[in-house]
Amino acid sequence: MSPASRHVAVLHGVNLNMLGSRDPLHYGTLTLRELEAQIAAWGVELGIETSFSQTNMEGEYVERLQALAGVGVDGAILNPGSWTHYAYALHDALELTGIRAVEVHLSDVQSREQWRRHSVIGDLCLATFSGRGPEGYRLALERLREEFDAEGEGGGG
Ligand code: DQA
Repeated sequence: MSPASRHVAVLHGVNLNMLGSRDPLHYGTLTLRELEAQIAAWGVELGIETSFSQTNMEGEYVERLQALAGVGVDGAILNPGSWTHYAYALHDALELTGIRAVEVHLSDVQSREQWRRHSVIGDLCLATFSGRGPEGYRLALERLREEFDAEGEGGGG
């Protein structure tokens, strides 16, 4: 029996629309569109429907996070770009939605500049995958799938 279908929203933040022309050593060569297609395909394998958005406006990202609470989304994958490191409004927005989230960074933020080591959302996320390139998103989907399945076994849901 295939696992019950779930819906995960993938929210990309500032400058991630520039993937494909950003430093390939940190961010690889895929464009955002190609990355999203890859994530969607992994989602299909795991019985997870994915939806995508990207914005360069912090307030818009906050509004998209807030909106996740009421639209039947089962989980979120968040890569807010550099907002990750200082935009505490994202922490508060994620906290108030109460949505299960996994943080992903294409580059290894722990081995770059000092200021990238801090995350304003890390303490609210189930897991963080950083420095794994696109693969980090597959790991995030798998982590959420585990969570959904565990919930199913618990008879909750
Ligand atoms: C990033 C890491 C951030 O530090 C950076 O500002 C980004 C992308 C990543 O995916 O590696 O814009 O989130």
